[in-house]
Amino acid sequence: MRRKIVAGNWKMNGSKDLVNSLVGHVRSELASLDNGVEAVIIPPALFVGDVIRQSGGKVAVGVQNIACWDSGAYTGEISAVMARDAGCDYALVGHSERRQLFGETDEQVAVKVVRALASGLDAVICVGETLEEREAGTAVSVVSGQVRRAVADVESGQWRQVVIAYEPVWAIGTGKTATAEDAQAMHSAIRAELASLGAPAEKISLLYGGSVKADNAAALFAQPDIDGGLIGGASLNANDFVSICRALPGKS
Ligand code: 13P
Repeated sequence: MRRKIVAGNWKMNGSKDLVNSLVGHVRSELASLDNGVEAVIIPPALFVGDVIRQSGGKVAVGVQNIACWDSGAYTGEISAVMARDAGCDYALVGHSERRQLFGETDEQVAVKVVRALASGLDAVICVGETLEEREAGTAVSVVSGQVRRAVADVESGQWRQVVIAYEPVWAIGTGKTATAEDAQAMHSAIRAELASLGAPAEKISLLYGGSVKADNAAALFAQPDIDGGLIGGASLNANDFVSICRALPGKS
């Protein structure tokens, strides 16, 4: 039985007011949901404590990035150990915005995965191809390579802490979503890659991200290898986020 997860990545958006209005609403709406969804809110790190207080333990919380180190003279960085200490359950690692805007490399992503898992956080490892790579027909090899390098140092007992989020770069914030069939094909390829690496691939949750909205979530989540979503813009609206959580069918 794979975990079914809908995670809201707020990116650099939100405020204490949004935390106060959104988290309690999501928490009370989820109480009546019986599809087994695990909802995760991933706010800017400054608001992690506020989200945890409002969540009453019913909504999991994550950070959007962690450092490659546990502590030290790294001004502006936040470590996995600190995120765990602050009450986080998850860390996003290798989001395409970190890769593209901040030059994060596959090697750094692999180190961050190690740090996250060692600290007790679950790592949501983000992978995805650019439009050029998709048009050149290299999407599967690009994404498989990202997966392979990101999990290179995962130890055998740590796979249950690993979640992969497939987010095609061209679908993020653009309103363009991969078709359910294309997303399923990539998820299937990711699962095959994990299996080839000796991971318990059938037990690893694979999320789709990129312009997931209340009206397209159900078709994506109906695919056999899509175990949930990583949601950007729509996670900033409580009703939209809850609708996406509802779109997840109860499946094993
Ligand atoms: P959008 O849902 O806004 O396209 O963002 C997706 C994303 O990047 C989530 O991490």
